[in-house]
Amino acid sequence: MAGAGGLCEGRVVVVTGAGRGLGRSHALALSAAGARLVVNDLGVEPDGTRPDPEIAWRVAEVIRQAGGEAIESSEDVACWEGAGQLVETALSSFGRLDAIVNNAGVSRGGLLVNLAEADLDEVVRVHLKGHAAMAAQAAAHWRRLAADDGPSDWRIVNTTSPMALLASPPHGRSGHAAYVAAKAAVAALTLTEADELSRYGVMVNAIAPVARTRLTEALGYEDLAQPVTPGAFDAMDPDNVSPLVCWLCSVRSRGVNGRVFEVEGGRLGLLEGWRRVASHEGGGRLVAGELDGIVERLLSEAG
Ligand SMILES: NC(=O)c1ccc[n+]([C@@H]2O[C@H](COP(=O)([O-])OP(=O)(O)OC[C@H]3O[C@@H](n4cnc5c(N)ncnc54)[C@H](O)[C@@H]3O)[C@@H](O)[C@H]2O)c1
Repeated sequence: MAGAGGLCEGRVVVVTGAGRGLGRSHALALSAAGARLVVNDLGVEPDGTRPDPEIAWRVAEVIRQAGGEAIESSEDVACWEGAGQLVETALSSFGRLDAIVNNAGVSRGGLLVNLAEADLDEVVRVHLKGHAAMAAQAAAHWRRLAADDGPSDWRIVNTTSPMALLASPPHGRSGHAAYVAAKAAVAALTLTEADELSRYGVMVNAIAPVARTRLTEALGYEDLAQPVTPGAFDAMDPDNVSPLVCWLCSVRSRGVNGRVFEVEGGRLGLLEGWRRVASHEGGGRLVAGELDGIVERLLSEAG
């Protein structure tokens, strides 16, 4: 990857869901930047079914063939045991763990009115529990090291979505209730992890990417298409997202903590979440019958 040479030299990074799409791009870019990789992927269909261990192996093999260091893992990251195993794989293969990139994701769409309980459970499980399990297992390891030797440069990069965070996402959010809720939870989890883990030297940030992968291709958005003009910048190439991931995994991001970066094509944005935009202070308990006017005033103040 142009411009990343050596940025992650010697660092050991676990990338979840690295067999395809964005995760694959991150793993290849991190390797090109000098990192040693645990390439994790359960190898499932977009809806999380039919695991295939070869998917992770293929990307690890591409890295090894190019002279990089990588070990494959086909653990399910959305359980404490699988996440713990991934941390162990990094330690037993490379003797250390410097960063985790939580990227694995699934999609089960549909309007809320048609949403099946099992679909909600699976989407929340993979995105929210998959992020939390990896962070919990890595943090336990880093806390032990910090107790002996003090804080160090450890990193967690989470993956949320503009669809969950922007007031008006480009493609709306109807039909994606479970996904949007799970990705908003990942953003909230990022802030909590950032507060709790910075004392050990762990910087925790999230990315909100947009790129052409099998997940987004299935949605059929025209603006994800490849450019028609040969040689033109392909703004939807997933490789566009990975330079930020490399930088966030590197020691250069020290002091950057609890941030959510929007990244699409050549644009890098900083997203901020809920904030109070209007308020009323009555000095005592609110009275239901008096709320019409108060709420009307708040709404007009908020604009
Ligand atoms: N593509 C986009 O525009 C976009 C936008 C916002 C957020 N995201 C997020 O980026 C991440 C990557 O998505 P993508 O578009 O590259 O999709 P993708 O389907 O190409 O890749 C996701 C990978 O995660 C793996 N995976 C799923 N469940 C797993 C589990 N339990 N354990 C381990 N691996 C598992 C899959 O096998 C797959 O290879 C996801 O979290 C997605 O929600 C993508």
